[in-house]
Amino acid sequence: MSKAWLVFMQSVPTFILLCYGFGIIGIAMASDYTRPGPGRVILTQHSDSGSYPEQVHVSAVGTEYMRISWITDDQSMPSKVEYGKVSGKYDAVAKGESSRYLFYVYLSGKIHNVKIGPLEPDTVYYYRCSGVGDEFSFKTAPGSLPVEFVIAGDLGQTEWTNSTLTHIGKLDYDMLLMPGDLSYADWHQPLWDSFGRMMQPYASTRPWMVVEGNHEIEALTFFGMAPFIAYNHRWRMPYEESGSNSNLYYSFNVAGAVHVIMLGSYTDFGSNSAQYKWLVADLAKVDRAVTPWLIVLFHAPWYNTNTAHQGEGESMRVAMEALLYKARVDVIFAGHVHAYERFTRIYNEAENSCGPVYITIGDGGNREGLALDFDSKHKYAHLSLFREASFGHGRLRVIDSKKALWSWHRNDDSTDTVRDQLWLLSLSSSSACQGGTKIKDEL
Ligand SMILES: [Fe+2]
Repeated sequence: MSKAWLVFMQSVPTFILLCYGFGIIGIAMASDYTRPGPGRVILTQHSDSGSYPEQVHVSAVGTEYMRISWITDDQSMPSKVEYGKVSGKYDAVAKGESSRYLFYVYLSGKIHNVKIGPLEPDTVYYYRCSGVGDEFSFKTAPGSLPVEFVIAGDLGQTEWTNSTLTHIGKLDYDMLLMPGDLSYADWHQPLWDSFGRMMQPYASTRPWMVVEGNHEIEALTFFGMAPFIAYNHRWRMPYEESGSNSNLYYSFNVAGAVHVIMLGSYTDFGSNSAQYKWLVADLAKVDRAVTPWLIVLFHAPWYNTNTAHQGEGESMRVAMEALLYKARVDVIFAGHVHAYERFTRIYNEAENSCGPVYITIGDGGNREGLALDFDSKHKYAHLSLFREASFGHGRLRVIDSKKALWSWHRNDDSTDTVRDQLWLLSLSSSSACQGGTKIKDEL
Protein backbone atom coordinates (compact mmCIF):
# COMPACT_ATOMS: atom_id res chain seq x y z
CA MET A 1 0.00 0.00 0.00
CA SER A 2 1.44 3.37 -1.00
CA LYS A 3 2.27 6.01 1.59
CA ALA A 4 -0.21 8.40 -0.02
CA TRP A 5 -2.95 5.80 0.22
CA LEU A 6 -2.12 5.16 3.89
CA VAL A 7 -2.35 8.88 4.66
CA PHE A 8 -5.68 9.01 2.86
CA MET A 9 -7.10 6.07 4.77
CA GLN A 10 -5.91 7.50 8.08
CA SER A 11 -7.80 10.71 7.37
CA VAL A 12 -11.13 8.94 6.98
CA PRO A 13 -13.65 9.89 9.67
CA THR A 14 -15.08 7.11 11.72
CA PHE A 15 -18.82 7.67 11.74
CA ILE A 16 -20.16 5.12 9.27
CA LEU A 17 -23.62 4.73 7.84
CA LEU A 18 -24.43 1.46 6.19
CA CYS A 19 -26.81 1.70 3.26
CA TYR A 20 -27.60 -1.89 2.47
CA GLY A 21 -29.37 -2.74 -0.73
CA PHE A 22 -27.43 -0.20 -2.80
CA GLY A 23 -23.97 -1.65 -2.41
CA ILE A 24 -23.03 1.51 -0.59
CA ILE A 25 -21.21 2.14 2.63
CA GLY A 26 -21.07 5.85 3.32
CA ILE A 27 -19.88 8.28 5.95
CA ALA A 28 -20.99 11.73 6.94
CA MET A 29 -19.87 14.08 9.72
CA ALA A 30 -21.09 17.30 11.26
CA SER A 31 -18.61 20.14 11.63
CA ASP A 32 -18.28 23.84 12.39
CA TYR A 33 -16.63 24.56 9.06
CA THR A 34 -16.99 28.17 7.87
CA ARG A 35 -17.53 28.35 4.14
CA PRO A 36 -15.37 30.81 2.22
CA GLY A 37 -16.71 33.39 -0.20
CA PRO A 38 -15.69 33.68 -3.87
CA GLY A 39 -11.93 33.72 -4.32
CA ARG A 40 -9.82 36.34 -6.09
CA VAL A 41 -8.96 35.47 -9.70
CA ILE A 42 -5.27 34.64 -10.09
CA LEU A 43 -3.68 35.68 -13.38
CA THR A 44 -0.75 33.39 -14.19
CA GLN A 45 1.86 35.00 -16.43
CA HIS A 46 4.39 33.50 -18.82
CA SER A 47 7.78 35.06 -18.10
CA ASP A 48 9.95 33.12 -20.57
CA SER A 49 10.53 33.99 -24.23
CA GLY A 50 7.90 33.39 -26.88
CA SER A 51 9.68 30.27 -28.07
CA TYR A 52 9.31 28.55 -24.69
CA PRO A 53 6.45 26.03 -24.45
CA GLU A 54 3.70 26.97 -22.03
CA GLN A 55 0.31 25.65 -20.94
CA VAL A 56 1.55 22.07 -21.25
CA HIS A 57 -1.03 19.39 -20.59
CA VAL A 58 -1.42 15.73 -21.48
CA SER A 59 -4.39 13.48 -22.24
CA ALA A 60 -4.67 9.76 -22.82
CA VAL A 61 -5.27 8.49 -26.35
CA GLY A 62 -6.30 4.89 -26.04
CA THR A 63 -4.35 2.94 -23.45
CA GLU A 64 -0.96 3.13 -25.15
CA TYR A 65 -0.65 6.72 -26.36
CA MET A 66 -0.63 10.18 -24.87
CA ARG A 67 -1.38 13.50 -26.52
CA ILE A 68 0.94 16.33 -25.49
CA SER A 69 -0.56 19.80 -25.94
CA TRP A 70 1.18 23.15 -25.50
CA ILE A 71 1.36 26.66 -26.86
CA THR A 72 4.18 28.88 -28.10
CA ASP A 73 3.89 32.52 -29.04
CA ASP A 74 6.64 31.93 -31.58
CA GLN A 75 4.97 30.56 -34.70
CA SER A 76 8.22 29.02 -35.95
CA MET A 77 8.51 26.51 -33.11
CA PRO A 78 8.06 22.90 -34.26
CA SER A 79 5.25 20.58 -33.09
CA LYS A 80 7.74 18.04 -31.82
CA VAL A 81 8.04 16.03 -28.60
CA GLU A 82 11.20 14.26 -27.51
CA TYR A 83 10.64 11.66 -24.80
CA GLY A 84 12.09 8.71 -22.93
CA LYS A 85 12.08 6.85 -19.63
CA VAL A 86 15.26 8.47 -18.31
CA SER A 87 15.43 12.16 -17.42
CA GLY A 88 17.38 14.09 -20.05
CA LYS A 89 17.70 11.07 -22.36
CA TYR A 90 15.17 11.20 -25.14
CA ASP A 91 15.35 8.10 -27.28
CA ALA A 92 12.11 8.78 -29.13
CA VAL A 93 10.69 11.73 -30.98
CA ALA A 94 7.22 12.35 -32.41
CA LYS A 95 5.84 15.08 -34.60
CA GLY A 96 2.29 16.33 -34.67
CA GLU A 97 0.17 19.22 -35.79
CA SER A 98 -0.60 22.78 -34.81
CA SER A 99 -3.39 25.28 -35.10
CA ARG A 100 -4.31 28.74 -33.98
CA TYR A 101 -7.58 30.60 -33.85
CA LEU A 102 -8.89 34.11 -34.20
CA PHE A 103 -11.48 35.18 -31.67
CA TYR A 104 -12.76 38.63 -32.58
CA VAL A 105 -9.56 40.69 -32.10
CA TYR A 106 -7.61 38.03 -30.19
CA LEU A 107 -5.19 35.78 -32.09
CA SER A 108 -4.04 32.73 -30.15
CA GLY A 109 -0.50 31.45 -29.95
CA LYS A 110 0.56 28.37 -31.88
CA ILE A 111 -1.32 25.45 -30.31
CA HIS A 112 0.63 22.20 -30.69
CA ASN A 113 -0.75 18.66 -30.41
CA VAL A 114 1.54 15.65 -30.63
CA LYS A 115 0.57 12.03 -30.02
CA ILE A 116 3.36 9.92 -28.56
CA GLY A 117 3.68 6.19 -28.02
CA PRO A 118 3.21 3.30 -27.80
CA LEU A 119 3.88 3.73 -24.09
CA GLU A 120 4.12 1.24 -21.26
CA PRO A 121 1.48 1.35 -18.53
CA ASP A 122 2.18 2.75 -15.07
CA THR A 123 5.47 4.21 -16.26
CA VAL A 124 7.06 7.63 -15.88
CA TYR A 125 8.13 9.31 -19.13
CA TYR A 126 10.20 12.46 -19.41
CA TYR A 127 9.54 14.82 -22.29
CA ARG A 128 10.40 18.13 -23.85
CA CYS A 129 8.27 20.18 -26.21
CA SER A 130 9.42 21.97 -29.38
CA GLY A 131 13.03 21.00 -28.60
CA VAL A 132 13.48 23.75 -26.01
CA GLY A 133 12.55 24.76 -22.52
CA ASP A 134 11.80 22.76 -19.42
CA GLU A 135 11.68 19.01 -19.14
CA PHE A 136 8.32 17.63 -18.01
CA SER A 137 7.29 14.18 -16.91
CA PHE A 138 4.06 12.22 -16.68
CA LYS A 139 3.04 8.80 -15.48
CA THR A 140 0.86 6.62 -17.67
CA ALA A 141 -2.23 5.00 -16.17
CA PRO A 142 -1.85 1.43 -14.91
CA GLY A 143 -2.66 -1.42 -17.27
CA SER A 144 -4.88 -3.13 -14.73
CA LEU A 145 -6.72 -2.34 -11.52
CA PRO A 146 -6.45 -0.65 -9.11
CA VAL A 147 -6.67 2.80 -10.63
CA GLU A 148 -7.39 6.13 -8.97
CA PHE A 149 -9.30 8.95 -10.63
CA VAL A 150 -9.51 12.51 -9.40
CA ILE A 151 -12.76 14.23 -10.32
CA ALA A 152 -12.88 18.03 -10.18
CA GLY A 153 -15.45 20.30 -11.79
CA ASP A 154 -15.92 24.02 -12.39
CA LEU A 155 -12.30 24.83 -11.57
CA GLY A 156 -11.79 28.37 -12.80
CA GLN A 157 -8.62 30.11 -11.66
CA THR A 158 -8.97 31.63 -8.22
CA GLU A 159 -7.38 31.32 -4.81
CA TRP A 160 -9.79 28.47 -4.14
CA THR A 161 -8.86 26.78 -7.40
CA ASN A 162 -5.29 26.94 -6.19
CA SER A 163 -6.31 25.34 -2.92
CA THR A 164 -8.13 22.54 -4.74
CA LEU A 165 -5.17 21.91 -7.05
CA THR A 166 -2.76 21.84 -4.11
CA HIS A 167 -4.87 19.19 -2.40
CA ILE A 168 -5.18 17.20 -5.62
CA GLY A 169 -1.40 17.24 -5.99
CA LYS A 170 -0.69 16.16 -2.41
CA LEU A 171 -2.07 12.67 -2.98
CA ASP A 172 -1.12 10.55 -5.97
CA TYR A 173 -3.62 9.67 -8.65
CA ASP A 174 -3.63 8.19 -12.15
CA MET A 175 -6.01 10.35 -14.17
CA LEU A 176 -8.11 13.49 -13.70
CA LEU A 177 -11.67 13.63 -15.01
CA MET A 178 -13.34 17.01 -15.33
CA PRO A 179 -17.08 17.48 -15.97
CA GLY A 180 -16.78 20.94 -17.50
CA ASP A 181 -16.32 24.67 -16.88
CA LEU A 182 -12.57 25.04 -17.12
CA SER A 183 -11.16 28.55 -17.37
CA TYR A 184 -14.17 30.86 -16.89
CA ALA A 185 -12.57 32.99 -19.60
CA ASP A 186 -16.08 33.91 -20.74
CA TRP A 187 -15.00 35.38 -24.08
CA HIS A 188 -11.91 37.10 -22.61
CA GLN A 189 -9.34 34.88 -24.33
CA PRO A 190 -6.21 35.81 -22.32
CA LEU A 191 -7.89 34.06 -19.38
CA TRP A 192 -7.64 30.78 -21.32
CA ASP A 193 -3.85 31.32 -21.47
CA SER A 194 -3.72 32.15 -17.77
CA PHE A 195 -5.77 29.04 -16.96
CA GLY A 196 -3.46 26.83 -19.02
CA ARG A 197 -0.45 28.16 -17.15
CA MET A 198 -2.10 27.61 -13.78
CA MET A 199 -3.00 24.02 -14.66
CA GLN A 200 0.39 23.13 -16.17
CA PRO A 201 2.11 21.85 -12.99
CA TYR A 202 -0.71 19.30 -12.59
CA ALA A 203 -2.01 18.70 -16.12
CA SER A 204 1.49 18.06 -17.50
CA THR A 205 2.10 15.20 -15.05
CA ARG A 206 -1.11 13.12 -15.28
CA PRO A 207 -3.62 12.70 -18.10
CA TRP A 208 -6.42 15.25 -17.79
CA MET A 209 -9.63 14.20 -19.53
CA VAL A 210 -12.17 17.01 -19.78
CA VAL A 211 -15.60 17.64 -21.23
CA GLU A 212 -17.22 20.97 -21.93
CA GLY A 213 -19.48 23.06 -19.70
CA ASN A 214 -21.53 26.15 -20.46
CA HIS A 215 -18.50 28.40 -19.88
CA GLU A 216 -16.78 26.75 -22.82
CA ILE A 217 -19.48 27.80 -25.32
CA GLU A 218 -18.32 31.41 -25.84
CA ALA A 219 -20.40 31.88 -28.99
CA LEU A 220 -20.36 35.31 -30.62
CA THR A 221 -23.14 34.82 -33.12
CA PHE A 222 -23.35 38.51 -34.00
CA PHE A 223 -19.78 38.28 -35.28
CA GLY A 224 -20.35 34.87 -36.85
CA MET A 225 -18.22 33.06 -34.28
CA ALA A 226 -19.19 29.45 -33.62
CA PRO A 227 -19.35 28.01 -30.10
CA PHE A 228 -16.46 26.15 -28.44
CA ILE A 229 -13.72 27.69 -30.63
CA ALA A 230 -11.19 28.15 -27.82
CA TYR A 231 -12.11 24.93 -26.03
CA ASN A 232 -11.84 22.76 -29.13
CA HIS A 233 -8.48 24.21 -30.09
CA ARG A 234 -6.92 24.16 -26.64
CA TRP A 235 -8.31 20.98 -25.06
CA ARG A 236 -8.41 18.42 -27.81
CA MET A 237 -9.67 15.09 -26.51
CA PRO A 238 -9.41 11.62 -28.16
CA TYR A 239 -12.85 11.60 -29.76
CA GLU A 240 -12.00 9.96 -33.10
CA GLU A 241 -10.69 6.87 -31.33
CA SER A 242 -14.16 6.19 -29.91
CA GLY A 243 -15.96 6.75 -33.19
CA SER A 244 -17.20 10.23 -32.25
CA ASN A 245 -17.11 13.02 -34.78
CA SER A 246 -16.98 15.74 -32.15
CA ASN A 247 -14.57 16.89 -29.46
CA LEU A 248 -17.68 17.53 -27.35
CA TYR A 249 -18.38 13.84 -26.57
CA TYR A 250 -16.18 10.76 -26.54
CA SER A 251 -15.22 7.69 -24.52
CA PHE A 252 -12.15 5.73 -23.53
CA ASN A 253 -10.98 2.76 -21.49
CA VAL A 254 -8.69 2.94 -18.47
CA ALA A 255 -6.72 0.21 -16.70
CA GLY A 256 -8.35 -2.43 -18.87
CA ALA A 257 -11.44 -2.39 -16.67
CA VAL A 258 -13.12 1.02 -16.70
CA HIS A 259 -15.07 2.51 -19.61
CA VAL A 260 -15.50 6.27 -19.23
CA ILE A 261 -18.05 8.19 -21.32
CA MET A 262 -17.92 11.97 -21.60
CA LEU A 263 -21.21 13.49 -22.79
CA GLY A 264 -21.95 17.00 -24.02
CA SER A 265 -24.68 18.91 -22.19
CA TYR A 266 -24.45 21.77 -24.69
CA THR A 267 -24.62 19.99 -28.00
CA ASP A 268 -27.58 18.12 -29.47
CA PHE A 269 -28.60 15.04 -27.48
CA GLY A 270 -32.06 14.18 -28.84
CA SER A 271 -32.80 10.76 -30.31
CA ASN A 272 -32.02 11.95 -33.85
CA SER A 273 -28.79 13.68 -32.88
CA ALA A 274 -25.31 12.51 -33.78
CA GLN A 275 -24.41 12.37 -30.09
CA TYR A 276 -27.35 10.14 -29.22
CA LYS A 277 -26.59 7.75 -32.07
CA TRP A 278 -22.93 7.68 -31.10
CA LEU A 279 -23.87 6.91 -27.48
CA VAL A 280 -26.09 4.01 -28.56
CA ALA A 281 -23.23 2.58 -30.63
CA ASP A 282 -20.66 3.17 -27.91
CA LEU A 283 -22.75 1.47 -25.22
CA ALA A 284 -23.37 -1.48 -27.55
CA LYS A 285 -19.61 -2.03 -27.74
CA VAL A 286 -19.15 -2.15 -23.98
CA ASP A 287 -18.50 -5.67 -22.73
CA ARG A 288 -18.91 -5.61 -18.96
CA ALA A 289 -16.98 -8.86 -18.72
CA VAL A 290 -13.99 -6.89 -20.03
CA THR A 291 -14.72 -3.46 -18.53
CA PRO A 292 -16.82 -4.17 -15.43
CA TRP A 293 -16.97 -0.47 -14.55
CA LEU A 294 -18.96 2.08 -16.54
CA ILE A 295 -18.65 5.77 -15.61
CA VAL A 296 -20.30 8.77 -17.25
CA LEU A 297 -19.57 12.48 -16.92
CA PHE A 298 -21.40 15.55 -18.21
CA HIS A 299 -21.84 19.09 -17.03
CA ALA A 300 -25.44 19.95 -16.12
CA PRO A 301 -26.75 17.54 -13.43
CA TRP A 302 -29.91 15.53 -14.00
CA TYR A 303 -30.61 15.28 -10.29
CA ASN A 304 -30.02 18.35 -8.15
CA THR A 305 -31.65 19.75 -5.00
CA ASN A 306 -29.61 22.94 -4.96
CA THR A 307 -31.60 26.06 -5.83
CA ALA A 308 -28.97 26.88 -8.47
CA HIS A 309 -29.49 25.67 -12.06
CA GLN A 310 -32.76 23.89 -11.34
CA GLY A 311 -34.09 21.93 -14.31
CA GLU A 312 -31.22 22.75 -16.67
CA GLY A 313 -30.30 19.09 -17.19
CA GLU A 314 -33.90 17.88 -17.47
CA SER A 315 -34.26 17.66 -21.25
CA MET A 316 -31.01 15.70 -21.50
CA ARG A 317 -32.18 13.38 -18.70
CA VAL A 318 -35.43 12.70 -20.52
CA ALA A 319 -33.52 12.00 -23.75
CA MET A 320 -30.73 9.79 -22.45
CA GLU A 321 -31.49 8.41 -19.00
CA ALA A 322 -33.02 5.16 -20.26
CA LEU A 323 -29.93 4.42 -22.36
CA LEU A 324 -27.61 4.80 -19.40
CA TYR A 325 -29.89 2.85 -17.09
CA LYS A 326 -30.22 -0.02 -19.52
CA ALA A 327 -26.43 -0.10 -19.85
CA ARG A 328 -26.15 -0.29 -16.04
CA VAL A 329 -23.92 2.75 -15.66
CA ASP A 330 -22.35 2.62 -12.21
CA VAL A 331 -21.91 6.28 -11.41
CA ILE A 332 -22.58 9.63 -13.09
CA PHE A 333 -20.59 12.76 -12.26
CA ALA A 334 -21.80 16.26 -13.12
CA GLY A 335 -20.65 19.79 -12.33
CA HIS A 336 -22.32 23.17 -12.97
CA VAL A 337 -23.75 23.53 -9.46
CA HIS A 338 -20.97 24.90 -7.28
CA ALA A 339 -21.40 22.49 -4.42
CA TYR A 340 -21.17 18.80 -3.61
CA GLU A 341 -24.17 16.48 -3.63
CA ARG A 342 -24.44 12.70 -3.68
CA PHE A 343 -27.63 10.83 -4.46
CA THR A 344 -28.64 7.23 -4.05
CA ARG A 345 -29.06 4.98 -7.08
CA ILE A 346 -31.81 6.43 -9.27
CA TYR A 347 -33.76 5.74 -12.42
CA ASN A 348 -36.67 7.77 -13.73
CA GLU A 349 -36.89 10.04 -10.65
CA ALA A 350 -37.14 7.13 -8.21
CA GLU A 351 -34.76 5.07 -6.12
CA ASN A 352 -33.62 2.07 -8.15
CA SER A 353 -30.98 -0.41 -7.07
CA CYS A 354 -29.85 -0.88 -10.69
CA GLY A 355 -29.56 2.80 -11.53
CA PRO A 356 -26.43 4.96 -11.36
CA VAL A 357 -25.25 6.78 -8.26
CA TYR A 358 -25.46 10.50 -9.12
CA ILE A 359 -22.78 12.85 -7.84
CA THR A 360 -22.51 16.60 -8.41
CA ILE A 361 -19.00 17.89 -7.96
CA GLY A 362 -18.97 21.44 -9.31
CA ASP A 363 -16.98 22.76 -6.36
CA GLY A 364 -13.50 23.23 -7.84
CA GLY A 365 -13.23 26.87 -6.82
CA ASN A 366 -14.26 29.25 -9.60
CA ARG A 367 -14.88 32.99 -9.28
CA GLU A 368 -18.64 32.73 -9.06
CA GLY A 369 -18.43 31.24 -5.57
CA LEU A 370 -20.51 28.54 -3.95
CA ALA A 371 -24.14 27.60 -4.52
CA LEU A 372 -25.12 27.79 -0.87
CA ASP A 373 -28.82 26.92 -0.82
CA PHE A 374 -30.28 23.44 -0.98
CA ASP A 375 -34.04 22.98 -1.04
CA SER A 376 -34.98 20.54 1.71
CA LYS A 377 -38.47 20.22 0.21
CA HIS A 378 -37.28 19.50 -3.32
CA LYS A 379 -38.98 16.53 -5.00
CA TYR A 380 -35.58 14.80 -5.10
CA ALA A 381 -34.61 15.64 -1.51
CA HIS A 382 -35.43 12.12 -0.30
CA LEU A 383 -32.97 10.75 -2.89
CA SER A 384 -30.14 13.06 -1.82
CA LEU A 385 -27.90 11.35 0.73
CA PHE A 386 -25.24 14.01 1.25
CA ARG A 387 -25.00 17.66 0.24
CA GLU A 388 -22.70 20.45 1.20
CA ALA A 389 -21.75 23.78 -0.38
CA SER A 390 -17.96 23.79 0.00
CA PHE A 391 -14.96 23.75 -2.32
CA GLY A 392 -13.13 20.47 -2.85
CA HIS A 393 -12.48 17.53 -5.15
CA GLY A 394 -13.36 13.85 -5.36
CA ARG A 395 -11.44 10.61 -5.77
CA LEU A 396 -12.67 7.33 -7.17
CA ARG A 397 -10.35 4.46 -6.45
CA VAL A 398 -11.45 1.40 -8.42
CA ILE A 399 -10.05 -1.46 -6.41
CA ASP A 400 -11.12 -4.47 -8.44
CA SER A 401 -13.94 -5.58 -10.73
CA LYS A 402 -16.46 -5.29 -7.91
CA LYS A 403 -15.38 -2.61 -5.45
CA ALA A 404 -14.55 1.08 -5.74
CA LEU A 405 -14.07 3.68 -3.03
CA TRP A 406 -15.45 7.17 -3.59
CA SER A 407 -14.37 10.03 -1.35
CA TRP A 408 -15.09 13.75 -1.37
CA HIS A 409 -12.26 15.93 -0.07
CA ARG A 410 -13.22 19.36 1.19
CA ASN A 411 -10.65 22.16 1.14
CA ASP A 412 -9.95 23.06 4.75
CA ASP A 413 -7.24 25.71 4.28
CA SER A 414 -3.88 23.94 4.20
CA THR A 415 -5.30 20.45 4.61
CA ASP A 416 -8.08 18.55 2.94
CA THR A 417 -10.70 16.69 4.89
CA VAL A 418 -12.59 13.64 3.75
CA ARG A 419 -16.18 14.65 4.32
CA ASP A 420 -18.02 11.95 2.44
CA GLN A 421 -17.05 8.46 1.49
CA LEU A 422 -18.72 5.35 0.19
CA TRP A 423 -17.94 1.95 -1.20
CA LEU A 424 -19.51 1.26 -4.56
CA LEU A 425 -20.23 -2.21 -5.86
CA SER A 426 -20.19 -2.46 -9.66
CA LEU A 427 -23.57 -3.20 -11.21
CA SER A 428 -21.84 -5.73 -13.47
CA SER A 429 -21.26 -7.82 -10.35
CA SER A 430 -24.95 -7.71 -9.41
CA SER A 431 -26.84 -10.68 -10.78
CA ALA A 432 -30.12 -8.90 -9.98
CA CYS A 433 -29.17 -5.96 -12.21
CA GLN A 434 -27.80 -7.98 -15.09
CA GLY A 435 -31.04 -9.88 -15.68
CA GLY A 436 -32.77 -8.92 -18.92
CA THR A 437 -36.22 -9.17 -17.36
CA LYS A 438 -35.62 -6.33 -14.96
CA ILE A 439 -34.19 -4.15 -17.68
CA LYS A 440 -37.18 -4.82 -19.95
CA ASP A 441 -39.70 -4.28 -17.17
CA GLU A 442 -38.38 -0.90 -16.14
CA LEU A 443 -37.83 0.73 -19.50
FE1 LIG B 1 -21.56 25.49 -15.53
